[in-house]
Amino acid sequence: MRIFIKTYGCQMNERDSEAGGAMLAERGHELVTNENEADVLIFNTCSVRDQAERKAIGKIGFMKKLKKTRPELIIGVMGCMAQNRGEDLFRELPHIDFVIGTGQLHKLPDIVESIAEERSAQVTLLDPDNAVLTGMGAHCQNSIFASIAITRGCNRFCTYCIVPYVRGREISRDIADIVAEAQELVDGGTREIMLLGQNVAAFGLDGNINPPPPDHSPFAELLEELVKIEALKRIRFTSPYPSYFNDRLIATIAANPKICRNIHLPVQSGSDRILKAMNRNYTAEQYRNIAAKLLDKMPDLTFSTDVIVGFPGETEEDFNATRSLLNEIGFDNAYIFKYSPRSGTAAFKLDDDVPQAIKEERNQILLKDLAERSAKFNIKLNGSVQEVLVEGVSKRNTERWSGKTTNSKTVIFTPSDGIKPGDLIKVKINRVTAVSLFGEIVEKE
Ligand code: 5AD
Ligand code: SF4
Repeated sequence: MRIFIKTYGCQMNERDSEAGGAMLAERGHELVTNENEADVLIFNTCSVRDQAERKAIGKIGFMKKLKKTRPELIIGVMGCMAQNRGEDLFRELPHIDFVIGTGQLHKLPDIVESIAEERSAQVTLLDPDNAVLTGMGAHCQNSIFASIAITRGCNRFCTYCIVPYVRGREISRDIADIVAEAQELVDGGTREIMLLGQNVAAFGLDGNINPPPPDHSPFAELLEELVKIEALKRIRFTSPYPSYFNDRLIATIAANPKICRNIHLPVQSGSDRILKAMNRNYTAEQYRNIAAKLLDKMPDLTFSTDVIVGFPGETEEDFNATRSLLNEIGFDNAYIFKYSPRSGTAAFKLDDDVPQAIKEERNQILLKDLAERSAKFNIKLNGSVQEVLVEGVSKRNTERWSGKTTNSKTVIFTPSDGIKPGDLIKVKINRVTAVSLFGEIVEKE
């Protein structure tokens, strides 16, 4: 069968789609990128904000027409919204054939094939607490960049967040399994690996919600094993909860330049009152200290972050505390979200009292600050020499190539003979914009 998978949401969902697709391909099915050519349409959905659910429901609803003209078409929904809404989805979207929960990814090929044979609608939802790690390792094709899911689920229960409910309790894979998966990818040509999890820094601490003592970090142990893979040039990870950055983990990152110098450190708010209401277990001051400790050991480090504006009860003063913390840390990238109440979470009981217009206004203010900071940061890089991992032909200009710095900045350069994707080269920057750096190669691999 020809299979089309559409993914909504985060990198974990992208990874699940890839693993699901790879398992189907192993059974002899073909993955296609055009929905009109497909026999099976799978929607991998997100629940983190209401808008994400509405977008997916709108798109899947639209498929009703296609199903009318081609009744043999199989349509399925997987991912967080599938887990969240379960069988209700059959009422809302009667033309779909299956709904598969987040803990059942490994059964995707069986479900698709049995529906094709029996033409019967079915639901499978597993208690997410028993989520299995099977199937996590399947990859579609080897490329320079690959992601590996190292944990599933989350134990933190931030009051706004639906993830612990739809992805279940946190479980970690074995270090040996992850290293074997990384080695296989690298043998196939991968040069940069992104480690994924809701709270990667809590890797290996299953069941224990408290951050470990300063000298203990199973995540650091994993990183130390991965850096030993010689042909692997770069390692990134997302997302780590700030409080798990202890001395052991910071020392490991500092000692290993293969671990990229851009860390995503979700702050969510700069107001202690709001952080407390969010059940984040740090104060703004503690967050500052973690960032300072990291910078002390790695002065070339840059940070990105996640922020929520308009959490219930967020005053002008709270928002200003967030704004000044962001400017102070100098994040060169930030994902800013307007608070969206999620049924079932603790914050859902609170009055969503910040008007939409104020949420939008606060969002715009932070975006503007971010653009200004980012432009200033790029200007500082003009004239510098940057190490770039080559990606290939630039999307915008086919005569140029692009790659990324360890700080996650995109660099556009003129290719020269012998350069290939996956090479680590040095580029002298001679022009910058707010989003990209431009330059010429000064040293090949
Ligand atoms: N409303 C808005 N943003 C949210 N996030 C998680 N839940 C919500 C919500 N209910 C944001 C957080 C998290 C990111 C992945 O999504 O900032 O870090
Ligand atoms: Fe959600 Fe908080 Fe877990 Fe992140 S750490 S997935 S925001 S509950």
